[in-house]
Amino acid sequence: METSLSIHPELYKQQVVSEFTDIGSVVAIVEEAGDVLLECENGWVRLALYTERIVRITMDPSGPPVAAGESLFVQQAKQPLALAARRSGDELLVEGGQLRLRATCSPLRIAVEEAATGETIVREGAHGMMFNAAGEVIGFKAMEPEDRYHGFGEKAGHLNKRGEKLTMWNTDVYAPHNQETDPLYVSIPYFMTKRGGRAHGIYVLNTFRMEFRMNGDTEYALYAEGGLLDYFVLAGPTPKDVVLQYAGLTGKAPLPPKWALGYHQSRYSYETEQEVRELVASFREKGIPLDAIYLDIHYMQGYRVFTFDGERFRKPAQLVRDLKEAGVRIVPIVDPGVKADPEYRVFQEGLARQAFCRYADGTMFYGEVWPGKSAFPDFTDEAVRQWWRDLHAFYAELGIEGIWNDMNEPAIFNESKTMDVEVMHNNDGRRTTHRELHNTYGLQMSRSTYEGMKLHLDGRRPFVLTRSGFAGIQRYAAVWTGDNRSFWEHLEMSVPMCLNLGLSGVPLCGADVGGFAHDSNGQLLVRWTQLGAMMPYFRNHSEMKSIRQEPWVFGAEAEALVKRYIRMRYVWLPLMYGLFAEANRTGMPVIRPLLLEFPDDPQAGLVQDQFLLGPNVLVAPVVRPDTFVRAVYLPAGRWVNYWTDEVLEGGRHVLVDAPLDTLPLFIRQGSVIVQGSERLNTAEPAGPLTVHVYAGVDGAMTYTLYDDDGATFAYESGSVYEQRLDIVCDGARVELATHIVQLGCLPSWTSVRVVLHHAGEQPEVTVDGKPAALERLNEGGAPALWAFALA
Ligand code: GLC
Repeated sequence: METSLSIHPELYKQQVVSEFTDIGSVVAIVEEAGDVLLECENGWVRLALYTERIVRITMDPSGPPVAAGESLFVQQAKQPLALAARRSGDELLVEGGQLRLRATCSPLRIAVEEAATGETIVREGAHGMMFNAAGEVIGFKAMEPEDRYHGFGEKAGHLNKRGEKLTMWNTDVYAPHNQETDPLYVSIPYFMTKRGGRAHGIYVLNTFRMEFRMNGDTEYALYAEGGLLDYFVLAGPTPKDVVLQYAGLTGKAPLPPKWALGYHQSRYSYETEQEVRELVASFREKGIPLDAIYLDIHYMQGYRVFTFDGERFRKPAQLVRDLKEAGVRIVPIVDPGVKADPEYRVFQEGLARQAFCRYADGTMFYGEVWPGKSAFPDFTDEAVRQWWRDLHAFYAELGIEGIWNDMNEPAIFNESKTMDVEVMHNNDGRRTTHRELHNTYGLQMSRSTYEGMKLHLDGRRPFVLTRSGFAGIQRYAAVWTGDNRSFWEHLEMSVPMCLNLGLSGVPLCGADVGGFAHDSNGQLLVRWTQLGAMMPYFRNHSEMKSIRQEPWVFGAEAEALVKRYIRMRYVWLPLMYGLFAEANRTGMPVIRPLLLEFPDDPQAGLVQDQFLLGPNVLVAPVVRPDTFVRAVYLPAGRWVNYWTDEVLEGGRHVLVDAPLDTLPLFIRQGSVIVQGSERLNTAEPAGPLTVHVYAGVDGAMTYTLYDDDGATFAYESGSVYEQRLDIVCDGARVELATHIVQLGCLPSWTSVRVVLHHAGEQPEVTVDGKPAALERLNEGGAPALWAFALA
């Protein structure tokens, strides 16, 4: 807890404002292999056209920056595109692809603009690119009055980060998590600027401690403690385009195994085999679905990773097998700290292989974590990653398919909360300090975990959950938002946090449902489960000191409602899975802030307490105690209340009843959603699929049913099922045309039924030109609901 001492005037005096040197005026312009090199008074700048709509700008005070291409952080190769420079007087024009850079030469100030229209995308204002003798770099950009800033990875607080200073330095924060708690566990040095209906992105390729100072008035600054000022401008022009451009650069998430999308139950800790078996039995008895149970640190022998405590878990393989037969997976936690115990195999092996992080003089670095004094694998080294991959045979051979990577910032119980920044990393041959690579430690650990599990799972998809990460983490792991609390504020904050993570390339994310620390309660757990059911990743987790928060601990009413919404999750799984397939192909997030789907609607751009699951399902969770009504913004168009089928005119706020049993949900009229069946886990047969067509507006709509085996990588080579449904509504006429797009496998559902909403009292429905046999699902009086089977 801080006291007023923190704001002692002496502390301000101690802050040194660093002297930075401007890169200076352009003295020579060199065209080199399609790039433009600007020799400036105080250093060099390289301009490269990475794709038609992405330009890379790199400043190096020490010499011409090398032409950089793919790396761990840039998955896309530079396209063979050329820029051409033309100088007239003080003005420099550099053109290529769809973009133009317009610069003044003295001093160098660059603006990126649309070549076709001259519209400015992003520009330097009073300041440009600077550096200092300490190796720090900084770049400034003009802030336009209407600019709003989104992304930045995992950040507490609101959706729009204008006015905030955001630090990139992966940090273990147990408490507090509030708007000014920054940084947290994941750093993604990327954001999107939304200006009216247009957007562009900036991805800064720098792994040092960084600050995005968005708290200026007319300028914001991108600061890094070391390295080059090296960044991509993603020219949009829509928010979706920016998301796709960023995903193009940093890669897309593999499809998770279906079981990873079910309901997961965790606790720090389920301590014995008996306790785990009883827990699974309780879920079964109570009819509450369950796909995974997590084993927190107590499963191990004295917190030694790659071990099971022989007393508490006598037969882990048997346990995993029995649970799998009941459709439940076990996900054990694996932290990076390896107990410094000379009699422990993993420590011995790591020592023998020189796999642990050391200081420059060869001395081992040790830090205190759960097991006490521990050594830390140097995941920046391929040989170490290989060793770590191989170690995962231990879990795979027990039948385990999911691993939970925690404490991988790395978190260490000392004052700095992490490893000494002077510790050296091998970095695949380019040795450097932890200062430079700290932010990538979690990413590299999850990478070797994912690759290791993949290696040992005979073609099945691994699931990795991570606390820490960096740009590109989506390629290896799901992210959860760490140690939140059972506070309504944290329920509320989890929405903009996960939306910003989604905009930052991470589709599979979620918060601890019910809250990790502090005591939860029935109402909070109900509301949190309602939200969790529509979140990409859905896990209830709580800590040792808190009261328990399994679905049934808060009495019959809460249990019934928690159960209802966990069951509902399974109904939405086919739609969600289709969205994950889209995320895998394009990088579009599964849950989306309204601004992504309605960029031109100024009001939609402000909304952060609602989101869209895909393009057409609007979720408006209740995030306040004793609140049974809420205001919902419905963007332009018409929206159907999911629960009542009432049609509401959009382009306005509506007040919606939200008693404790209701999560407000709306479907865009003129769209299609799919739903599956309630199941006790994803291992149970999928049953029938229902396609809900929200008719009632004339025009065309389309939806593509997606499925694959949900378990292997066969989808990567075309073993997928895709059927497109094209629907045209014209008055009472509804024409549905079906097209098999891909038949690489059969879908998991047994039959498909179409339910027509708002198609009137006497619709004429054809399927592929033939009249459909309609069945009325409800009594007269209410708006008719019609159903028919799809062959
Ligand atoms: C960290 C994790 C938490 C976990 C605990 C014990 O605090 O964030 O989820 O339960 O460590 O492993």
